[in-house]
Amino acid sequence: MSFIKWPFKRNKITYESDATIEVVPKHVAIIMDGNGRWANDQGLPRMRGHKEGMDNVRRIVKMASGEGIEILTLYAFSTENWKRPKSEVEYLLKLPKEFLNVYLPELIEENVRVKTIGHFDALPKHTKKAVQYAIDQTANNTGLILNIALNYGSRSEIVNAVQSIAHQVENGNLRPSEIEEATINSHLFTKELPDPDLLIRTSGEIRLSNFLLWQLAYTEFWFTDVHWPAFTEAEFSAALHAFQLRKRRFGGLKETKKE
Ligand code: FPP
Repeated sequence: MSFIKWPFKRNKITYESDATIEVVPKHVAIIMDGNGRWANDQGLPRMRGHKEGMDNVRRIVKMASGEGIEILTLYAFSTENWKRPKSEVEYLLKLPKEFLNVYLPELIEENVRVKTIGHFDALPKHTKKAVQYAIDQTANNTGLILNIALNYGSRSEIVNAVQSIAHQVENGNLRPSEIEEATINSHLFTKELPDPDLLIRTSGEIRLSNFLLWQLAYTEFWFTDVHWPAFTEAEFSAALHAFQLRKRRFGGLKETKKE
């Protein structure tokens, strides 16, 4: 539970200092946006923003784990990020290795389990090797799942799911009338995970950018103008406090704790 010192104002709500977070979202997903603008504001090269963003992952993972969040999904590289200059793509795809080289022992100590979603095979060899090593080393951990979205795109995820279901129908293993939500779920990268309860996007952009389009159907959203490298524990705490004030009805009339 969190005991961060602040009075902190967000969406006209002032939270009490030392307020305890009682209703912790099980699954938090974050679009870590604004690394470039953060660097630009400081007169630094964009890559420095990504490096600071990577270091911030450590802080936020630590807090998520301490708060009892079960799954933290981070959008680290999208299928659209390949459009960036080659040097930036190369840098971004080196970050997971750099992060894990430094922080894997800490993740293991914190009982964190590393997973990924996305088109893993298309990643560079060195990225795959470092990430696979972390997945293997943490496979038996039972704490926070750190789920890194790498080369992830929601539309291609859905297209792949549809193709795979269509093959089952073609082969006579499935009738079209048997296709239900669970069928689709079971063909997504996230098949083993519950849908996110809370989505956070930093840096003032109010869009989903091809992130978890199916899975976010009933997720609570939290947007902040703060750029990712400056997204502190206090900001995260504000998002978590806002979450616990939300009334989730999942389309019904009664407040529901879980779907
Ligand atoms: C968006 O900011 C951010 C990214 C495309 C990369 C996010 C990656 C990290 C924060 C590091 C990942 C760390 C690990 C551990 C895998 P932007 O560059 O689009 O910012 P801008 O919109 O201000 O230009």
